[in-house]
Amino acid sequence: MVRKPTKDDHFSFGLWTVGWTARDQFGDASRQELNPWDYATKLAELGAWGVTFHDDDVVPFGSDDATRADILRTFKKAVDDAGLVIEMVTTNTFTHPVFKDGALTSNDRSVRRFGLRKLLRNVDLAAEVGASTFVMWGGREGSEYDGAKDVNAALNRYAEGIDTVAAYIKEQGYDLKIALEPKPNEPRGDILLPTVGHALGLIAKLDNEDIVGLNPETGHEQMAGLNYTHGIGQALWAGKLFHIDLNGQRSIKYDQDLVFGHGDLLSAFFTVDLLENGFLGGGPTYDGPRHYDYKPSRTEGLQGVWDSAAANMEMYLLLAEKAKAYRADPEVQRAFEQAGVLELSQPTLSEGESISDFLADRSAFEDFDADAAAEREFGFVRLNQLAMAHLVG
Ligand code: GCO
Ligand code: MN
Ligand code: MN
Repeated sequence: MVRKPTKDDHFSFGLWTVGWTARDQFGDASRQELNPWDYATKLAELGAWGVTFHDDDVVPFGSDDATRADILRTFKKAVDDAGLVIEMVTTNTFTHPVFKDGALTSNDRSVRRFGLRKLLRNVDLAAEVGASTFVMWGGREGSEYDGAKDVNAALNRYAEGIDTVAAYIKEQGYDLKIALEPKPNEPRGDILLPTVGHALGLIAKLDNEDIVGLNPETGHEQMAGLNYTHGIGQALWAGKLFHIDLNGQRSIKYDQDLVFGHGDLLSAFFTVDLLENGFLGGGPTYDGPRHYDYKPSRTEGLQGVWDSAAANMEMYLLLAEKAKAYRADPEVQRAFEQAGVLELSQPTLSEGESISDFLADRSAFEDFDADAAAEREFGFVRLNQLAMAHLVG
């Protein structure tokens, strides 16, 4: 059996994950609600290292300042007593009906100003509790109808909002980075910044892009039919993988938020392989939290909540062991060689080779035997079968 998780594994959980009472579109809550501070002890007991939350997960929307301070004190003490860190804080800009057309991109300017103030207030809280990441998931930023949203203006307002939050962080001297979380749809018909790539495109246009990166979620990329491992790979390549939301998703449908690895298992294997072992030919690596954004299924009671939280960490550790063995296997290394995987790290032009040198190299084109080169067998299927054998063997 796999070892128990420890704090060194840097596993963390959103309060809204274990705290979800399973109210959905079609049914009432199927579980009791605990106090926000009741989750900390149990998570720590299971081997978690960190906890994260939305402002409203801890302090009910609209609470007065005294109540807010009181609740936060109790919560922070429980988290400290449990020995957990608050590594990330995020803002609820989606539950209250005022945000029905978005917060930063609502067509209503007064709502945008309110949303932005809620965000700035939560930046202060994030800094106060010692978080290092401020996740921004714009679930309501989008539309159901193409005629209802001026996409040009919406992206301008989105960029303006994010830049304002980033500028505020800098102005206050907080040690905090923003991580945008893409999602293609749900709750909106179409959400702005639907994928990792879209978000990277927007970040590149920001004035404060240096402190803005990504929090890609497994299921969100997969809801768009995309490859999560490639998505976080590109975010890493761009120096923008600031945080991750791990969970499980089976195919293109509503956001399932299954336990990590309970969706596309093979994809989860390669995700862990990348996070633990890095790119095949070296390059940037991820050393941030292993953060879960899943939902204990509605069929589960409190025991099921803890079992599913533990399952997320167990899946990760199982896959990490397998991914280590896969990389170390001499047969796999020979298969990598045949596949040319490591050849890809070699630049296509030689060092100092100018374009005219390149054009003068007859071996590259005029004398190149394309038919002979086409004979090469890469053996990718065998390589993949070796991965499969490590995974399920
Ligand atoms: C979702 C999202 C959220 C965000 C969270 C953090 O699909 O509901 O994944 O869970 O991660 O709001 O900002
Ligand atoms: Mn989600
Ligand atoms: Mn998420």
